[in-house]
Amino acid sequence: MTLTHDPNQLEKVLTQALTSLWGTEDTSIVFYDLAALKTRINELKTAFPDTAHHAIAVKANPLVGILSYLKTLDVGVEAATLPELYLAQQCGYSEKKLVFDSPAKTVEELTYALKAGIHLNIDNLIEISRVAQLYERIKSSSTCGIRINPQVGTGKIKITSVAGEYSKFGVPIKQFRSELIKVFEDHQWLRAVHLHVGSQGCGMEMLVEGVKTIYDFAQEVNRHSSGNSRKISILDIGGGLPVSYRDSDPEWSFEKYYNRLVKLCPQLSEYQLITEFGRFIHAHNGWVASRVEYVKKEKDIETIITHIGADMFTRMCYFPDDWTHRITVADRFGRIKTDTAKRRYTIAGPLCFSGDILGKGIFLPQVQEGDYLILLDTGAYTLGMWSRHNSRQIPKVIGYHGKIAGIIKEKETLEEIYKFWS
Ligand SMILES: Cc1ncc(COP(=O)(O)O)c(C=O)c1O
Repeated sequence: MTLTHDPNQLEKVLTQALTSLWGTEDTSIVFYDLAALKTRINELKTAFPDTAHHAIAVKANPLVGILSYLKTLDVGVEAATLPELYLAQQCGYSEKKLVFDSPAKTVEELTYALKAGIHLNIDNLIEISRVAQLYERIKSSSTCGIRINPQVGTGKIKITSVAGEYSKFGVPIKQFRSELIKVFEDHQWLRAVHLHVGSQGCGMEMLVEGVKTIYDFAQEVNRHSSGNSRKISILDIGGGLPVSYRDSDPEWSFEKYYNRLVKLCPQLSEYQLITEFGRFIHAHNGWVASRVEYVKKEKDIETIITHIGADMFTRMCYFPDDWTHRITVADRFGRIKTDTAKRRYTIAGPLCFSGDILGKGIFLPQVQEGDYLILLDTGAYTLGMWSRHNSRQIPKVIGYHGKIAGIIKEKETLEEIYKFWS
């Protein structure tokens, strides 16, 4: 297994945490590399034209400390729900930095977004009629787009693929091309097209084909525009750049992605681009250390019982064939174990159901009580998908920038759990 984090850096941060911020009540701690986040954002900005608006998907990592840090890097955010919009606004994002997507926007939410001047991606033709009615009485500075399902197929992971022949998102282009052309003729305020092919499991070719489909559509609509101004001036290409969670997964980059896009869509830079990346921005920046409570031996199976499981790793535990994380181990002082003689372990979390398993047959150096299991590449869609099963407390989150920068979020208290259920 190739570690996607520098082991010396992991060891430095973990030992520092163990001697300073790791309290007796902490059984697991989540770590986030802020310097790596900054590097990723720089890579994104360098790969795309300066005019692109990068709206980072809140759902991938909704921590207020991370959203606030992203704001200092001068990017925007994509919100898929009203609470995500609220989080972004509380972090100080101005309306022009926000993109609001959701397939289930209420009239109240649409009214709010239009009044605030937030960019809106409309999901379907019924929503178009709702927005048209609202425009009759609201003066809005919002730009609006419509989500198109480019129908380029389903990726390797069904539940995160959203551009198959059928999808609950967007307007399917094959069946509704002429209706889509008509809505651009009918509504002057409609200036953008939006797509999102899927999150993880959709290869680069599929993503590029999706963008090419809406680009061709936009070019067609614009060719038939009357006057000088183009009807469609904004392309929102969504997110979806896949992350390497296994050594066999290819390692992509924003640069490779953008280069492929312009090859197929030569006039892409004439559009104002919006991007909505989440996973590729965050995944490699996060890791979790969780104390080993017991190592149980039964016949030929050794089971590690640790303090993180299906509470934080919902997808990995519920869909183990599709999702995984690289795992390594450190001793009680935080030193990464490097013995080459490996043993096979089953790794189990603390929840009370038998599917709370982080892995079976995992090869690790010998593990003992008091060691720390380290799960890598956990910066996206882990903490943000925390499960309330068994009322587990969300662990402390520590940010570092070379060395520990501070606590991003304190461990959830028992009083907060009580309040949640009250
Ligand atoms: C509309 C939309 N945009 C962006 C994203 C972010 O995708 P990713 O985190 O894979 O980049 C998602 C993820 O579900 C999405 O649904």
